[in-house]
Amino acid sequence: MRPASFALFLATALPTVLAATAEQWRGRSIYQVIVDRYALSKGSANTPCDTNARTWCGGTWNSLRDNLDYIQNAGFTAVWISPVSQNYEGSATPYGDPYHGYWIADATQLNSRFGTADDLKALSAELHRRNMYLMVDVVVNNVMSPSLTPDYSKYMFKDQSYYHPYCLIDYSNTTSMQNCWFGDEKVPMPDVDTKNPTVVEKYGEWITSLVQEYNIDGLRIDAAKHVNMDFWPDFCGKAGVFCMGEVFSGNTTADETAPWQGPQALDSVLNFPLYNALQTAFAIPGPVNGKNDISVLAATIEDSKKQFHDTGLLGNFLENQDVPRWHNVSVDPQSLYNAMTFTFMSDGIPIVYYGQEQSMSGNSDPNNREALWPSNYAQTDAYKLITTLNKFRNHLVNSTDWVKQPVQVMTASPEGIAIMKGPVISILTNIGSPPRNDTNIAVNTPYPPSTPLMNILTCQQWAVGAKGMIDAQYTLGGVPNILVPSNTLAGSGLCGAEQTVISNNGGKAKPLDGGASHPSPAASLVVAGVLSLVFALTHIG
Ligand SMILES: *[C@@H]1O[C@H](CO)[C@@H](O)[C@H](O)[C@H]1NC(C)=O
Ligand SMILES: *[C@@H]1O[C@H](CO)[C@@H](O)[C@H](O)[C@H]1NC(C)=O
Ligand SMILES: *[C@@H]1O[C@H](CO)[C@@H](O)[C@H](O)[C@H]1NC(C)=O
Ligand SMILES: *[C@@H]1O[C@H](CO)[C@@H](O)[C@H](O)[C@H]1NC(C)=O
Ligand SMILES: *[C@@H]1O[C@H](CO)[C@@H](O)[C@H](O)[C@H]1NC(C)=O
Repeated sequence: MRPASFALFLATALPTVLAATAEQWRGRSIYQVIVDRYALSKGSANTPCDTNARTWCGGTWNSLRDNLDYIQNAGFTAVWISPVSQNYEGSATPYGDPYHGYWIADATQLNSRFGTADDLKALSAELHRRNMYLMVDVVVNNVMSPSLTPDYSKYMFKDQSYYHPYCLIDYSNTTSMQNCWFGDEKVPMPDVDTKNPTVVEKYGEWITSLVQEYNIDGLRIDAAKHVNMDFWPDFCGKAGVFCMGEVFSGNTTADETAPWQGPQALDSVLNFPLYNALQTAFAIPGPVNGKNDISVLAATIEDSKKQFHDTGLLGNFLENQDVPRWHNVSVDPQSLYNAMTFTFMSDGIPIVYYGQEQSMSGNSDPNNREALWPSNYAQTDAYKLITTLNKFRNHLVNSTDWVKQPVQVMTASPEGIAIMKGPVISILTNIGSPPRNDTNIAVNTPYPPSTPLMNILTCQQWAVGAKGMIDAQYTLGGVPNILVPSNTLAGSGLCGAEQTVISNNGGKAKPLDGGASHPSPAASLVVAGVLSLVFALTHIG
């Protein structure tokens, strides 16, 4: 704990430097927002947003700031916002307007559509007041032009010599991926020459000043694999904060993505191998001839541990602005809950794309960029599940070294998988909502017989059976299970355990309401045959 006088010294001497490192991000949980689609300004009519029109629907940095409770109350400790830099300003293109923020013009200017410099600073300050981090999406690979003959005077780099000449990307050729132009002939994305020393120097100066000016805690980097890898260590060093890159991949192996994480590249990448494997494991109907394959998920976990520099820093997700909503691929809610539980309880930083908690169901761009306000920010079952997952994970992060313990696969069958990370066992299934009494996932735990484990999703207690076995059955449908020794929950506020509040400055912990400890009405021993998850071979006591 640092003395108050030292904290005061820091506050006065370094008012703008709060940069967060990879280590500080490891325990965070991220909510991803497209600023234009998250919230309307106070008092404005609840106008619907036609995603097909591909134009602005009205969200701003201020309207996001005014509606942070919804994100914070769900337990998120960071917000990733769509790009803040100035975008193309002209008539609508065949792909509409840049409401998403990715059509960069001059990176050094802010996008006035979303507010002023003071508005962005106020958003950053408000997140920090809530002890949350701000992650900003940045695009350095390319700019946008409405034609194949760009007006270079509009960009940060105002001369054609700072760009590669136009060519169409051949995705089987690395040089082509890094030098040719993103987009197509209707909306071309001139490719910045990130090997040019002036570009390297100016981009470095820009990112240093952007991060400091707006107190940014981390960067999400668009199209990272379309830039020469050796550009990143210097760029992220100058940013001085955590960098998570987009390395798009359709593969469940890490061959393509893993080289982009490490000292030679980026702190972190978005976990596309896991995303692909989770679909294969949990989407209903299963993507492999209508069937699922959980062995692919088990293989991905092992492969990722071998190949990635640090799986604990990867960005785990089920949706983003470029892929179909989970609900478009798999309507059964239990399918989402099981896959979602995996992203929180395995290695990596969980990321939830806004609207996922509202079961939004658009497929690809632009349908997967729905406005959130028609949902009325309802406390749906998915929202409640996410809240519990965050509360549990935040508790583990704050009070144990759980986040640093590598996940282990305990068992994998065609219909289920059990993983263990630290003391936490998650048993997941892809059978979906209809109850089944022919499905039974038996897990050999390291716990002695009779150990009481709490299922934190139901607050029902399970007792470990003979030889350390537990056995999940699904007579009430294919729900996820998260089991942990009950004493791990002390201070968590979950399942009747009292909540300990850790103050923002790392000061003394104190109970929420004067220290009364609440007996748990919800926590009770599972009675065989009555409740959904039954295994109690040995009853406690
Ligand atoms: C790869 O792409 C680069 C850039 O377009 C091109 O010069 C090169 O010939 C391509 N290589 C192959 C093997 O096609
Ligand atoms: C995934 O990567 C493996 C190993 O590099 C490769 O053999 C396979 O063809 C790839 N699959 C896809 C769908 O790209
Ligand atoms: C998937 O998305 C498309 C386009 O948004 C929509 O027409 C379709 O109904 C969606 N499917 C489901 C199952 O939600
Ligand atoms: C965990 O610590 C963070 C950072 O100090 C704090 O914001 C958060 O409220 C804590 N969460 C829990 C569940 O204690
Ligand atoms: C489940 O158990 C009931 C009662 O024992 C039985 O009638 C039913 O056929 C079983 N269903 C399945 C899917 O095994």
